[in-house]
Amino acid sequence: MKFSSKFINGTMLVSQYCSKSRLICHKILPLPLAAFLLIFVLIAPMEGSPNKASNILCDRGSMLKQKEIKIKEKEEPKLKIRSEVIHGAQMEDKYDSITMPVYRTTIFGFKSVEELFEHGADVLSGKRDDEFFYMRVGNPTNTALERRLAKLESAESCVVTASGMGAIATVMWTFLKQGDHVLADTTLYSGTRTLLGELLTKFGVEVDFVDFNDLGLLRKSLKPNTVIVFFESPYNPTLKINDIAQIAQIVHSYKKDIRVVFDNTFATPYLQNPLLLGADIVVHSITKYIGGHSDVMAGCALGSKEDTQKIRFTGVENATGAVMSPDNAYLALRGLCTLPIRMDQQCKNAMKIAQYLEKSPYISKVYYPGLESFPGHKTAKKQMRDFGGIVSFEVRMDPEQMKRFVNGLKLIRLAGSLGGVETVIEHPAFMSHFNYTPEQLAESGIAPNQFRLSVGIEDIRDLIDDLEEAFKNSVSR
Ligand SMILES: Cc1ncc(COP(=O)(O)O)c(C=O)c1O
Repeated sequence: MKFSSKFINGTMLVSQYCSKSRLICHKILPLPLAAFLLIFVLIAPMEGSPNKASNILCDRGSMLKQKEIKIKEKEEPKLKIRSEVIHGAQMEDKYDSITMPVYRTTIFGFKSVEELFEHGADVLSGKRDDEFFYMRVGNPTNTALERRLAKLESAESCVVTASGMGAIATVMWTFLKQGDHVLADTTLYSGTRTLLGELLTKFGVEVDFVDFNDLGLLRKSLKPNTVIVFFESPYNPTLKINDIAQIAQIVHSYKKDIRVVFDNTFATPYLQNPLLLGADIVVHSITKYIGGHSDVMAGCALGSKEDTQKIRFTGVENATGAVMSPDNAYLALRGLCTLPIRMDQQCKNAMKIAQYLEKSPYISKVYYPGLESFPGHKTAKKQMRDFGGIVSFEVRMDPEQMKRFVNGLKLIRLAGSLGGVETVIEHPAFMSHFNYTPEQLAESGIAPNQFRLSVGIEDIRDLIDDLEEAFKNSVSR
């Protein structure tokens, strides 16, 4: 083996942890320094554990092979959700690491041609999720996240994707063909609305939008060629609540094999489990509450083994390629651990803000499912564990005053996303739902004087002080 090849293939221990180190060793570092670093990295793990270290070194040639990445599901007692977000479907790696490592490698090798013949077909066709060969089809860090999310959503299986839109688009590409019909609610995240209303239709898919609160209209709008029924609850940004169990029941009694696809981004698996209420597939933007810190873009689709296998091997592998990076899977796993405690605080803060806004002279309407006055309150209480961290409201202000109100906020930032630990505000008609036509905005109940607040985990007194000051500022000229 030539010296430069040894840096690539002869030091697998280095490259297992960080493939960038290959580049650094190979191209950038001067030789003596590279040699020193190599020796340091090889020797460092031996400290205090010579046997383990020498085993690692003896084993290193085979460590990257898919058969050697030891992944097994721990036998575990039924855990409560706060424990499950941390320990559920725990995957072990070879070194018993407590957090799942980032397997930053796009390829995994086969030991021999014989092994390729023996296992290749199963790996390539996705019959197994514990063997790996190419990152677009699977990666151990992603699998760890998939297994935990499946456990939390009571799904048989899960596929993680590059973003929430990646998950939604992948589901559509997997199950639809020319001539099929999709029925969706009128109010949806704007990206979903564009995908359904403008892009799928280009490929000959028929799409209708109706208000799913009108169950008679929903029933009447189902067609013999309906393949997917898509909705959210609570909705972005009006927090409209739909009865998931009732809708799934109506759809399935019309035709059993229509897939009820539900976007559970706003509620998360902590507050609501749509698969238990009759939905067939659940999608999430992990970018929001599951990630929880506004630093990761990711999504997932959950459902039966059969459906998720199709989604992975038709949708992700061959259609959208919307694969999640293992770095993002790591961040999502970390975010999941604190989802319940963040969400509890966000729900508590949101309720207090909604109650404060209800009494405010600057506000004409408050949208929050936790308020008894909110139209969907009873249904939300029935199907959710708490009411979520989003509050929308309409202000009694002209456009100039609205501008002054937002500019007057000091703690609460003007930003387009939601679900992070920090409170952010946005103007749906201008920002998240900018691509809705005036008719679509009216049909969805999005008013020009409406704001959406994604409530964080800050001290509630600071949040209310910030709002109060900004409201005063808006009318003080
Ligand atoms: C309800 C909902 N679904 C899906 C998405 C899309 O998610 P992502 O931005 O991760 O693609 C969003 C984004 O805001 C959303 O609010």
